[in-house]
Amino acid sequence: MTAALTDADLTGLPGVTDWQLLPGDPHGILLVAGQPPAVRDAAADDGRAAARAAADADVALDGVDPAPLPALMRQLDETALLTMARVLDRTRLFRDGGGHDTGEILSALAAAPRHAWIVRRWLRTLTAENRLALDTGTGRYHSLKAPDRRDHAHALRTLDAACRGLGYPTSMVRFFRAAAERLPLLLQDRASLQEVLFPNGETDTAQGNYRDSAPSRWVNHAAASLIADEARRRAAHRPLRVLEAGAGVGGTTGTVLEALGDTPADYLFTDVSPFFLRAARDVLGDRPGLRHALFDIQADPLTQGFAAASQDVVLAANVLHNARHVGRALAALRELLVPGGLLVLVESCQEHYQALTSMYLLMSPAREERGWFTDLRAGQDRVFLTAEEWTRQLDAAGFDPLPVLPHEGHPLALAAGQRVIAGRVRTHGGRPDPGRVRAALADRLPPAMALPRIHAVDDIIRTAIPTGAPR
Ligand SMILES: C[S@@+](CC[C@H](N)C(=O)[O-])C[C@H]1O[C@@H](n2cnc3c(N)ncnc32)[C@H](O)[C@@H]1O
Repeated sequence: MTAALTDADLTGLPGVTDWQLLPGDPHGILLVAGQPPAVRDAAADDGRAAARAAADADVALDGVDPAPLPALMRQLDETALLTMARVLDRTRLFRDGGGHDTGEILSALAAAPRHAWIVRRWLRTLTAENRLALDTGTGRYHSLKAPDRRDHAHALRTLDAACRGLGYPTSMVRFFRAAAERLPLLLQDRASLQEVLFPNGETDTAQGNYRDSAPSRWVNHAAASLIADEARRRAAHRPLRVLEAGAGVGGTTGTVLEALGDTPADYLFTDVSPFFLRAARDVLGDRPGLRHALFDIQADPLTQGFAAASQDVVLAANVLHNARHVGRALAALRELLVPGGLLVLVESCQEHYQALTSMYLLMSPAREERGWFTDLRAGQDRVFLTAEEWTRQLDAAGFDPLPVLPHEGHPLALAAGQRVIAGRVRTHGGRPDPGRVRAALADRLPPAMALPRIHAVDDIIRTAIPTGAPR
């Protein structure tokens, strides 16, 4: 229906200076923006809260020296490079000394179409790391430098020490190894990474990743500190209302609940999958004020039973990159928050080669999905945004961004790329009133025509930041 909307229908709507139509929800989504806000910087006490959160997170490292962590992470990445080269070599395609285009390589691997983007990333990565050569004239790849079985086995053994140094439990080492061994089958969708990550439905390995590793401990404590600070800052006339989206195995939840201590809180643990709601009851147990609900960040929260302006804090740790359009998802989360409410995200802002041989397999679009990302990542074979891109997205969606944590120079920013990105709902923005826009649009259109879901934002982002995109 929305396909029939024309520029003439959308020009001159009250307070609207820019707009974007997106697929979905089920009659389409219309983002509308007005005059840009005059003031766009975070308040001084948010800056102080961010500094306190960074200091709390440093303490939570509990004696782990962060200085060697970037080198250990690089070791994980080196192993992943060898794994990619070995999987390509086992197709025997490159052994004839000739060049092969991406289509031939995908066929030789028999990769499932939904995972083709991962193979394209491998080819670019191996070329950038001089393990493969690309003839730019013909688009053919050649001269693969693959490790022999012994070198690869040795690299896999060094994973142990690197993972130990990074604070990963042994279950994560087993996971990395198992993923590397099964890669050809995983790419073909003849094996499932979910089964490797959650053997027999157990969540311990994933907890090792999202809760126990040094980089996760740091960001979880920083996020928890920001939320505990928010509880103190809001006078305690009622419990702090927190909605956590994509809470998964509760890697961040536990740390936040601990930081809140006895502070009265109404904590809504949500995920798109009932599996995680069941697991959370086992892991986190019962606690006054802890509730569970299904929530899909791809769909409108208001049609899923959540009320507008009902939350003081929204937390989403390693989830929001799943949104097809992060600008729309952020606008919807902003609508859930009270004016001045706090959004706290944990996101990977730097892509690691290790993920190209493991976690990425979980991020490919579902088999039946036709489209993938419809935002600045469209057509780019990437999932993650840089810290700079997230800040720009928060600002455009109507949040005053807080300083990103850890700051650029911190060894953990370099090592893991996991960052805490927070923003406070801007109350001084020039956003159009969605109700007035809707009424004006309804007046212009034939009565039978369904209206799109309208989200007001402060700005509309159509393109990626050209430099500094994740490698
Ligand atoms: C990387 S894991 C999450 C990490 C989580 N913070 C933890 O500690 O486990 C991503 C989570 O996002 C959830 N997720 C994926 N797509 C989602 C969606 N559309 N809406 C809500 N949650 C989603 C997954 O079910 C999973 O639990």
